[in-house]
Amino acid sequence: MPSESEVRSALAEIVEPQLVRPIGELGFLGVVEDGPTGLAVELVLPVREWPNLETLAADVERVAPGSTLTVRSMDDEERLALRNFLRGEMAGDPGAGQHAHGDAKPRFMDNLSKTRVLGISSGKGGVGKSSVTVNLAISLARLGHSVGVLDADVYGFSLPKMLGASTDPIVLGDTVIPTLVHGVRCVSMGYFVPDEQPVIWRGPMLHKAIEQLVTEAWWDEPDFLLIDMPPGTGDVALTLSEVVPRIEMYVVTTPQAAAQRVAQRSAYAARKLKLSVRGVIENMSWFTGDDAQRYEIFGAGGGQRIAEELGVALLGQIPLETKLREGGDQGEPVVVAAPESEVAQAFVALAKAVAAQGPARVYRQELKLV
Ligand SMILES: Nc1ncnc2c1ncn2[C@@H]1O[C@H](COP(=O)(O)OP(=O)(O)O)[C@@H](O)[C@H]1O
Ligand SMILES: [Mg+2]
Repeated sequence: MPSESEVRSALAEIVEPQLVRPIGELGFLGVVEDGPTGLAVELVLPVREWPNLETLAADVERVAPGSTLTVRSMDDEERLALRNFLRGEMAGDPGAGQHAHGDAKPRFMDNLSKTRVLGISSGKGGVGKSSVTVNLAISLARLGHSVGVLDADVYGFSLPKMLGASTDPIVLGDTVIPTLVHGVRCVSMGYFVPDEQPVIWRGPMLHKAIEQLVTEAWWDEPDFLLIDMPPGTGDVALTLSEVVPRIEMYVVTTPQAAAQRVAQRSAYAARKLKLSVRGVIENMSWFTGDDAQRYEIFGAGGGQRIAEELGVALLGQIPLETKLREGGDQGEPVVVAAPESEVAQAFVALAKAVAAQGPARVYRQELKLV
């Protein structure tokens, strides 16, 4: 029989799926003691409805079979300690979390971080920007990358619904813990605005909100952070160019000439903001009929043309597919619901192309020649 303290150390190493840290370090492991009815294990969670309780309970049972599990929620002090721990981890400096609000910059924002920040943009709405963001994010995660998505399209937040996120993010003081769904961490600005109430975003308020969700959410240091941006190049693009200067822009367009022209204008505007445009993604490229023929409903060649004009690659062509729309409406993304479908395969190919082209070159300001 292992001793109480041996069991405790083994339990402490259980990794929490959403925070990706051992529960011992997170303060999630409470009292572990031998009682009259066997071993009793206590979990101390930030909130009672912690989304991964079932997974954690199964892990406890695996490490300490037959133990009795009790759960309580953290008190204010414990929540503050967790917040400080996460902030320190985000900054890559254990002491950093102790500083006052805003002092510690997340490690992923550093120019030398492995994190690639991808801005998914389009010239106009309705071209499938959010559908592409969701399915690309999940495809990247399924290729083994760690992925976060931020819903920053202030004209219509749609990612949580499209992803099928059933729980809201958990807020620990000034730190937001994204919802984990289909292996992707998600935060929507939509969670923080009142329901059904049209918000008129004023410049400074928008700037602050975006900056907070980039810097104050528990993204950890993901391989990719995808941002669903509002159509065009407005305040959000400007803010992001300041908050994460090395953001890579991907332009979503349809094959039509008109859509393409709009996309192009917005890409040129992005360039003016010194955002690096890394690729074009054409959506609704064709429809494959039951006769296996491809029907180019919205024309052809738009994606290729704009890619050439911008001097970047056309990284993917996504077919029109009823399952994609249904998946979005039902919160079951097509790459999850029908991974073998042509459209899902197109997203996997796109994810591979995005990963393969590597990060944008980082020009270190201190190396600038004068
Ligand atoms: N390739 C596609 N095949 C079928 N329906 C699509 C496709 N891409 C997008 N849609 C549908 O078109 C609508 C607009 O897409 P959405 O991703 O919300 O666009 P945006 O974010 O650019 O406004 C949604 O109903 C979506 O399901
Ligand atoms: Mg959208």
